[in-house]
Amino acid sequence: MAKLAIKGGRPVRRKPFVSWPVFDKREERELLEVLRSGKWGIGGTKNEEFASKFAAYHQAEFGVTCSSGTAGLEIALKAVGVRYGDEVIVPPYTFIATAGCVLSLGAIPVFVDIDPKTYNIDPNLLEGAITPKTKAIIPVHIGGGPAHMDSIMKIANEHNIYVIEDACQAHGAEWRGHKVGAIGHMGVFSFQSSKNISAGEGGIVVTNDEELADRAWSYMNVGRSRKGEWYGHEVLGGNYRMTEFQAGLLLAQLNRNERLMRRRERNAAYLARKLHDVGGVEHVGAYPEVTRHAYHLFIMRYDKSQFNGLERDRFVEAIRAEGIPLSPGYATGPLYRLRAIAGYKIPGIETDYSKLFLPAAERACREEGMWLHQSVLLGSRKDMDDIIDAFLKVKENASELV
Ligand SMILES: Cc1ncc(COP(=O)(O)O)c(C=O)c1O
Repeated sequence: MAKLAIKGGRPVRRKPFVSWPVFDKREERELLEVLRSGKWGIGGTKNEEFASKFAAYHQAEFGVTCSSGTAGLEIALKAVGVRYGDEVIVPPYTFIATAGCVLSLGAIPVFVDIDPKTYNIDPNLLEGAITPKTKAIIPVHIGGGPAHMDSIMKIANEHNIYVIEDACQAHGAEWRGHKVGAIGHMGVFSFQSSKNISAGEGGIVVTNDEELADRAWSYMNVGRSRKGEWYGHEVLGGNYRMTEFQAGLLLAQLNRNERLMRRRERNAAYLARKLHDVGGVEHVGAYPEVTRHAYHLFIMRYDKSQFNGLERDRFVEAIRAEGIPLSPGYATGPLYRLRAIAGYKIPGIETDYSKLFLPAAERACREEGMWLHQSVLLGSRKDMDDIIDAFLKVKENASELV
């Protein structure tokens, strides 16, 4: 039996996986073009060009670029009119920005558990969380797998609530053949370093509603209005503008996206199949209506009972020692357990998450969830086989680690 690397044995793999970002001459050309134009910010054309191309790619009529996904979420909430004291429904298994943007407006995040089958917000629990104060729902397409948009839109429309899709991990994902982002009233994407399309930082808000797009543009651009005076600020906005360098990079990245998506899809399907041979680790599923998964993360569910009781975190450590960059994901717990959220006091409003326990999210964070990053899925068939070999090796030797 091969000795585990965590115990001093030879790792399954020493070679690194594909590094991210991927770029070539196209990015270089775009950057040089912006550099030489002297139009690095306002006055350039790349932001508008990228906004309209990305929006069209996502079957949305309007796109407003901004400095990050976090900024985009805040802008979208402001655009739909979320204010102090309003409630916004969010899932707890996501990046902090999904709930942080709500708190930063003095509004209250109301956490609804995830569906254990997909790790997306559970549509069956939504209705029970709606109160007269509910103004919006932010479903997250976690890891690039779309949330159940049919149910969410039906409930939201019945209750007159806005839906802002947090599509920060879901570039190119589709729900029943329609790209995510503008299925809801607004959608937000991130172009931060790890994202499937990246400019180091950046974000975009997409929508089919012109009025919401104009408001988003205004909140993004220090409260100016598109047709108004330069110094005629009409609302209090921030400076959330994206530079022309970022927009240029993103034009090149967008061009490459379909090709990279296909490669991720092939490898993800292969990995998901091969995981059946391992047993005890399975790819977290997508709803049948998902016609395209963006695979920002390849999220898996770990079942320690099939590994001699070996805890997920110890399994991840052992796999990492074998040379596979496996992550335990949001292992610090559901968002409502983070000090930044739990300890945040909205002036004049009592929020207390100390007794909240959402079982599916707790399990996903602490016991079951594990990820591989999208860049790993850009590798070869052999790369995928190494991952499976490492899983099999650790499984065979699990008793040594418990
Ligand atoms: C689900 C989710 N929402 C929001 C964000 C925030 O995006 P950004 O890092 O661009 O601010 C991220 C990414 O980091 C994310 O993964």
